[in-house]
Amino acid sequence: MIRNMNSYPLYDDGEHKVLWLGIEEAEDEKGILTNQYLVIDGSEAALIEPGGFFVFSRVLKNVSAHINPTQIKYLLYSHQDPDVIAGLNLWFEYAPLAKIGISELWVRFLPHLAVMSAGRTIGIPDKGMEFQVGNSKIRAVPAHYLHSPGNFGFYDEKSGILFSSDIGAATFPEGEWYLFVEDFEEHEKYMEGFHRRYMSSTKALRAWVRHVRKLNPTMIAPQHGAIFQDENVGKFLDWLENLEVGIDVFEKEFYED
Ligand SMILES: [Fe+2]
Ligand SMILES: [Fe+2]
Repeated sequence: MIRNMNSYPLYDDGEHKVLWLGIEEAEDEKGILTNQYLVIDGSEAALIEPGGFFVFSRVLKNVSAHINPTQIKYLLYSHQDPDVIAGLNLWFEYAPLAKIGISELWVRFLPHLAVMSAGRTIGIPDKGMEFQVGNSKIRAVPAHYLHSPGNFGFYDEKSGILFSSDIGAATFPEGEWYLFVEDFEEHEKYMEGFHRRYMSSTKALRAWVRHVRKLNPTMIAPQHGAIFQDENVGKFLDWLENLEVGIDVFEKEFYED
């Protein structure tokens, strides 16, 4: 059952906090459900995957319960999809000191959102970069072709949480929703169709899994669906490693009788 929920803490050591930013029941009828996350360190913050137009008021309300939006130093975007970026105009106004971080591939496309983004945009190079938030660092981790050709996850070093963009996305059937994956085997069926069709390449996926194993995250928090923690982090990586996606399966699915 989808219910109204405000933010939920994923990590808190007093100085450094990570929050999931809530959900409202009506969102289910408007479009695919999305997750937004806030990282706070001291007096600075980063908003990860700020989201589209219809979630803006909910995200702003839940951010404002913890900080003044003027404390947002970075708006970090994994890629250019509307469910990630369509609220950019609003965030530019409500978080006037924030700079945005997005793959350098997408920087020249942003003016088409009718924003004056010059001087406020940081194009993330293909190999990634680090963002300083208070006394902590958030690392942009390459996830190209998964699914966007210029795609990043964001790894919060202090909490060990990896915000994985659309990797790990699940689409729930009507009326079903949960924040944390509990039964991985049950959860698989909500992820498989999405990954096979939206992810571009099995090779890219396996390269990402190898890299993420080295990072050894405490949680993997996707932009859609539920969060992986404890033994489900490893189960999720194993599952991805054995999945065939995108250009490696398309021919059979589209053209064979
Ligand atoms: Fe996407
Ligand atoms: Fe998405």
